[in-house]
Amino acid sequence: MCGIVGYIGREQAAPILLEGLSRLEYRGYDSAGVAVFDSQTEALAVHKAKGRLQVLSERLHGGADLDSTVGVGHTRWATHGAPSDANSHPQVSHSGKIAVVHNGIIENYAELKAFLMEQGVPFTSETDTEVVAQLIEYFYQGDLLQAVGRVLRRIQGAYALGILCADCPDQLVAVRKDSPLILGLGEDCTFIASDVTAILRHTRRVYYMEDGELAVLTREGIQCFNHLMQPIEKEVAAVDWEIDAAEKGGYEHFMFKEIMEQPEALRRCLSPRIRDGEIVLEDFPPDFLRDISRICIVACGSSYHVGMVGKYHLERLTRIPVETSLGSEFRYMDPIVDQHTLVIVISQSGETLDTMAALREARRLGGRILSIVNVVGSSIARESDQVLYTWAGPEIAVATTKAYTTQLALLSLLALKLARARGTLSDSEYHASLDAFQALPDKMEQILSRRDDIQYFASQYFNHNSIFFIGRNLDYALGLEGSLKLKEISYIHSEAYASGELKHGTISLIEDGTLVVALSTYEKLFAKAMSNVVEVKSRGASVLALTTERRREEMARIADAVMTIPDIHDLLLPCLGVVPLQLFAYYVALMRGCDIDKPRNLAKSVTVE
Ligand code: M6R
Repeated sequence: MCGIVGYIGREQAAPILLEGLSRLEYRGYDSAGVAVFDSQTEALAVHKAKGRLQVLSERLHGGADLDSTVGVGHTRWATHGAPSDANSHPQVSHSGKIAVVHNGIIENYAELKAFLMEQGVPFTSETDTEVVAQLIEYFYQGDLLQAVGRVLRRIQGAYALGILCADCPDQLVAVRKDSPLILGLGEDCTFIASDVTAILRHTRRVYYMEDGELAVLTREGIQCFNHLMQPIEKEVAAVDWEIDAAEKGGYEHFMFKEIMEQPEALRRCLSPRIRDGEIVLEDFPPDFLRDISRICIVACGSSYHVGMVGKYHLERLTRIPVETSLGSEFRYMDPIVDQHTLVIVISQSGETLDTMAALREARRLGGRILSIVNVVGSSIARESDQVLYTWAGPEIAVATTKAYTTQLALLSLLALKLARARGTLSDSEYHASLDAFQALPDKMEQILSRRDDIQYFASQYFNHNSIFFIGRNLDYALGLEGSLKLKEISYIHSEAYASGELKHGTISLIEDGTLVVALSTYEKLFAKAMSNVVEVKSRGASVLALTTERRREEMARIADAVMTIPDIHDLLLPCLGVVPLQLFAYYVALMRGCDIDKPRNLAKSVTVE
């Protein structure tokens, strides 16, 4: 939700800011803007445009028009005030002296705005962010950091801020609370960014800011401060992501590239963790996985769907009761958590605000927090007791693919590890499962190599207005993800149902030609799945089935069309099964001419409640 970038150095700032924003556009794309200190006029020059970054970039000729070596930039996902030039960031104080870019929400902005208006301060936007810019100017008496400090004592909410002041063009100020922000150290230059992909071209040396910290950036370096404004020393971290991992590399869309990268991502995620027939997870303290009486999984969106699969696996393998909850609900349900509760937090970005709030609630109640995260050094990773990184590499498309499959593989591996430790699994079952993990990437490659079949099915069905996904147990959890993938990028209305629930209401929606995607990969429930296919067929539905190779023929006798995945151990069925559904969603969206990597109204990283 909104991307921030800032640069101070010796090169022309605007092209660097625009290039950085192009990597952050996945975080929000309804408007963009930059503010730089113009060396000619010795004032701030602010340029903003509603719409995609490209509109702004073309208007500024890629930044070549702006003569400056310091500035901040922003790409927006609107919260307060509709997308418009006026509501775009940077937001500027009334004299034009202070420019602010912001990711997050200032919760008490209305009362602060009322106060400032009483003092005669004129406002020009509907944003919460303008209050920050105006308030800084209100307190400013020649020391920018001090003015920012006074503002921080008055604002409530979540914020990552980049601040530029016309009176002090040799510095930028950065602040972070509950919204991500990193600082980059280059040669004779420093950076602010919402995530590392924005500055990878220039540096791999970063500081991860903690909540409540401030920083003053100059060309020579960075000084950080704690919430009491005392100077602090921070450790420089080295980022190991490759720059081309965050580029399209010849593919038309990031989503397709990321779908194709899945076998490799899985190898990266799994190979180091399976050694000599044993599962070797990160160095957890010996007691961390002992004496667990209950497991809570919390996550949002696709990560929540991973948690749904995880519940089935963990309960079946370990016999520990598991509850999977939405991050956005968890803290409002008075959850039952104590020191014997393992709380598994799942997040690609590691920044989802609702998931983070759930984590903090679980910590407050004394739970042991283990997170499964993709982005190294992200907030959720840093606030957890232990972290399992998925190592999927940067995921740019809004619709998650490789993060989902690596999360799923890792959670399944954890279930196996726990079961082994608790003695709830025979040796032979354990080893058979481990063999399946090792075969997983190759089997996924087989599905990807037959992607033309899925493209053909998409061409048959892309005109439907409403599509149902049905399945039981693992296939139900898989259906939730298949349905989400389809609706978020193709805008086709779609619902996922536990097959057995259909006849309790939803089956009344099935009529001649309704498309039902029937999932029946779970061998144990195949016969039941077949009955549900017959049920919807006899009410006129067209059925596109997904099953395993071994069941293809049987299913083909009833369904209108059949997609298959190679046979594999139950534990890994959803991991393979999701790939045809990702491809189906992708090709359908492509045929409908949708903006696949940046679907409307969405953003990759959801840092507001
Ligand atoms: O970064 P997170 O995994 O915490 O994000 C959670 C959801 O916002 C995310 O999975 C979302 O549902 C995906 N865009 C779906 O493709």
